[in-house]
Amino acid sequence: MEKAIIVAIADNYAIGRANALLWHLSDDLKYFKKVTSGYPVLMGYMTYKSIGRPLPGRHNIVSTWYPFDAPEELDVVFSLEEGFSHARKYFNDNGIRESERKVFVMGGGETYRQALPTADTLYITHVHTEVEDADTFFPRIDPLIWKEVSRSETLQDAASGLTYEFTVYKRR
Ligand SMILES: NC(=O)c1ccc[n+]([C@@H]2O[C@H](COP(=O)([O-])OP(=O)(O)OC[C@H]3O[C@@H](n4cnc5c(N)ncnc54)[C@H](OP(=O)(O)O)[C@@H]3O)[C@@H](O)[C@H]2O)c1
Repeated sequence: MEKAIIVAIADNYAIGRANALLWHLSDDLKYFKKVTSGYPVLMGYMTYKSIGRPLPGRHNIVSTWYPFDAPEELDVVFSLEEGFSHARKYFNDNGIRESERKVFVMGGGETYRQALPTADTLYITHVHTEVEDADTFFPRIDPLIWKEVSRSETLQDAASGLTYEFTVYKRR
């Protein structure tokens, strides 16, 4: 099973503030949907809360220390490891071939920090801005551990003027 992380990161590694995203990039949201659709997604409770509903077309796994009144279709787990074992069960139950077994860790900061040491692949949107008043950051991406395998051309969001690239890194 491939463990992937998907995240949009500012140049200073900022990813969130006040339990919300730092920008609205409609093409990044479309990219996120295209890349993750059909795969299980694993997120921390705060990220689930900030979205407010399960993402359609994906098996949604939420990790929390405390049980909460979750919609029936939500798969609630009590550790990241339990989340990965639920993803394995999902693949088994649905007869998914080994080569197609990929789970996406989709945030937030605390969940990324726990997932990065065992992740295989990083789908990172590098957003070219520095957000000084962010309160949530992605850990440093160590080039001795991570090899960049693809990078899109530099794109620009028409509404905000922000420039960004879609990249993929693999563990060396
Ligand atoms: N830029 C991006 O691509 C991106 C993507 C996603 C999120 N974000 C941003 O990230 C921020 C949220 O990140 P965050 O660090 O505050 O929260 P988070 O990682 O989304 O969620 C943290 C919560 O997850 C649960 N949790 C974490 N580790 C656990 C474990 N090992 N076992 C059981 N439960 C565990 C706990 O829930 P309980 O408190 O319920 O126990 C914890 O409080 C927001 O600003 C959001 O917008 C950014």
